[in-house]
Amino acid sequence: MTVMTDAELWPAEYLGDSRPPRSLSMPWQMNVALTTRCPLNCPQCYVKAEEARDIDWDVLAAFIAEASALKVHELNLSGGEPLSYPRLVEAVRLATAAGIGTAVATSGVGLTAELAKELRDSGLGSLWLSLNGSREEIHSLSRACFRETVAAAELLRSLGQPFYINWVARRDNAGDFPALVTKAKELGAGGIVVLVLKPDSRHNAEAVLTGEAFFRLAAFLRGYDDPAMPIEVESCYPALRLAVYGKWTTGIEAGCSAGRDAVAVDVDGRLNPCPHLDYPEAGLTVREYWQNSPVLAALRATEEAIGAPCNRCGHTPYCRPCRAKAVKVYGDPSAGDRQCPVALRELTGRLFG
Ligand SMILES: C[S@@+](CC[C@H](N)C(=O)[O-])C[C@H]1O[C@@H](n2cnc3c(N)ncnc32)[C@H](O)[C@@H]1O
Repeated sequence: MTVMTDAELWPAEYLGDSRPPRSLSMPWQMNVALTTRCPLNCPQCYVKAEEARDIDWDVLAAFIAEASALKVHELNLSGGEPLSYPRLVEAVRLATAAGIGTAVATSGVGLTAELAKELRDSGLGSLWLSLNGSREEIHSLSRACFRETVAAAELLRSLGQPFYINWVARRDNAGDFPALVTKAKELGAGGIVVLVLKPDSRHNAEAVLTGEAFFRLAAFLRGYDDPAMPIEVESCYPALRLAVYGKWTTGIEAGCSAGRDAVAVDVDGRLNPCPHLDYPEAGLTVREYWQNSPVLAALRATEEAIGAPCNRCGHTPYCRPCRAKAVKVYGDPSAGDRQCPVALRELTGRLFG
């Protein structure tokens, strides 16, 4: 496969001279936690269940205004459950008017025909339903409310509104992925994104995919070629990208995107590298944070600092594994991915797990 450069992957205006090392000049994507409210209590969730809080409207509006001035490409609106945020439609409308794309990640619980139409009319860019299995028994191992999510998909289909599926790859659902693809087709989804499992709210990531099951999923994805249901692997999952696509970029898209092309705002209006990394900084503009944060600077030096097995794996220059796992599971921001199936196979010739 041809190796893509940053210049081929990103618009020139994101690659200006003043950009921090190994990063875009401004974030491409801003992830915003709108609320801590959620009607679900999913076993895998990385968000701590806490008292219901919404992001302050004026704080959100100020971030949208700055994102617009910076030319941030997309706001990824999440939570908690964004459909539980009372001013969701207003937020999407404001971002649209400011020229910023929007994406909403949701379980679909609380979606009505009226809300779906309001979101469409407010200019929502894409709606992502979280589905971790083709059947309730599989989905329920990691998420709640399978039936409600499927009902939301059916509602969107009946309204002719496009939607996509977020699927988290795990030990307990990887074998179900081909059936999930069939289900997504039945439901009329526009595509699927494969997400890597990050640590849950107790900092546990035991269900992460390893060994043979990982390579079976990779083989399925390598052989998959149906333009009617595009499937993409998120950049936070560089090991799977490598196993599926081979070495395809050496640049900013090569793994963990925290501080490289993405930034996050928490429900208290503080800036963070990503929704999974809790290093809040307050009282800064996005531009100041992007240019000056010591935490982002450290993340941009991951390639030099990373520990085993990554520091001995030949793929390191184009593979940055999830930093949230390094911090929350190994207690070391520079830790390598000690369960990485690709590195372990390369270094030992064996499959583990
Ligand atoms: C935290 S949820 C918030 C939005 C909404 N409540 C929902 O359920 O989709 C956003 C996305 O993160 C995913 N997610 C939750 N916990 C995760 C974890 N530990 N690792 C990876 N993805 C996770 C969910 O499956 C969902 O697709």
